[in-house]
Amino acid sequence: MSVATNNNREALPSVDETIGAQADLLSSHLQSMSEALFPPTSHKILRKFTSGEAARLMGVSDSTLRKMTLAGEGPQPETTSNGRRLYTLSEINQIRHLLAHSTRGRGSVDFIPHRRPGEHLQVLAVTNFKGGSGKTTTSAHLAQYLALQGYRVLAVDLDPQASLSALLGVLPELDVASNQTLYAAIRYDQERRDLSEVIRPTYFDGLDLVPGNLELMEFEHTTPKALSAGGSGETLFFARVAEALDGVADNYDVVVIDCPPQLGFLTLSGLCAATAMIVTVHPQMLDVSSMSQFLMMTRDLLGVVREAGGDLKYDFVRYLLTRFEPQDAPQTKVAALLRNLFDDHVLTNPMVKSAAVSDAGLTKQTLYEIGRENLTRSTYDRAMEALDAVNVEIETLIKQAWSRA
Ligand SMILES: Nc1ncnc2c1ncn2[C@@H]1O[C@H](COP(=O)(O)OP(=O)(O)OP(=O)(O)O)[C@@H](O)[C@H]1O
Ligand SMILES: [Mg+2]
Repeated sequence: MSVATNNNREALPSVDETIGAQADLLSSHLQSMSEALFPPTSHKILRKFTSGEAARLMGVSDSTLRKMTLAGEGPQPETTSNGRRLYTLSEINQIRHLLAHSTRGRGSVDFIPHRRPGEHLQVLAVTNFKGGSGKTTTSAHLAQYLALQGYRVLAVDLDPQASLSALLGVLPELDVASNQTLYAAIRYDQERRDLSEVIRPTYFDGLDLVPGNLELMEFEHTTPKALSAGGSGETLFFARVAEALDGVADNYDVVVIDCPPQLGFLTLSGLCAATAMIVTVHPQMLDVSSMSQFLMMTRDLLGVVREAGGDLKYDFVRYLLTRFEPQDAPQTKVAALLRNLFDDHVLTNPMVKSAAVSDAGLTKQTLYEIGRENLTRSTYDRAMEALDAVNVEIETLIKQAWSRA
């Protein structure tokens, strides 16, 4: 053991200097890593899809797609030097429109799955106050999956940390100026704007984003003031997100809200706007006990909101097991416990833990963005199979809420 003498201690740097130097070092390293991956001027673009992927997404055979191309119907795809045809998502959506009106599109496939009269906007809140339970990963993949199927999707970043925005190509510190988040549409003062003014298209055809950044925290500070002021004629805090969404509802089929890991006014207002809730849970005992607290607090707070006149009818509430490792005995025990207690409120398909998801996340990408050629094929295929199974299950619940067969 070496205890420095007073003299030696004089020579030691103080801890704030040490940490300060380390913070500078890390920050500049992260900055240059980020600039190498995403030059500030570059915009994210979505990769093109092979004819096989495109045909699968549209629900037609590859040969139908080839015949359409040969007959000059619809956009002509890029052809690579080895003869492969590649389609952008926007081209896929144009072909869907053609198919919906052509004899080639016969059969049971619903090429344009948009809402029909009488089908209400689906607002899915992905939530749990346990940090790192997979909310943002689930939200991003679900929103992109639905856009790939041809739905009109709005992703809403309710988290001041804004990881969803970053994943969808909008850097919260650089790209989002003041009054450009959801806060702009729910604030109490004269600066309030229509939600339509802060919605941005993304590089994914059919997927728009309401970005977040630290400004969202303002809602936690201004709401108590508005409550104590008595708010003459003001919409109460819990109805504000729903009210903002009302103005743009006609443009979308599904809204996906990525909640922060807190149960503040923002989350409560998001939950009140929701028509369905997905609670992400990593099946470990500590996470499950924290979820039990979350459920109790949610019950108490939403109970108060309901008594104050909030409408809290959900089409469905489901628990999604995230980062699940089927080989891990304690995790399978916890998963079995949840299935026992909650029955079919637990989604049948868990999202398995996969290096494909975390590796894609390192470069701010999702599994749908990264091409199969960029990862070990078996790893990619296994992750994609699990992911699609989860998302198909949620899509089925959405269709049931619309009373579609
Ligand atoms: N299926 C998965 N396989 C591997 N890694 C995953 C998987 N799902 C999520 N992760 C990783 O776990 C970490 C936490 O996930 P995520 O950010 O989605 O959680 P979160 O609930 O949104 O966190 P927060 O509460 O901080 O908002 C991320 O690094 C993510 O890449
Ligand atoms: Mg998150």
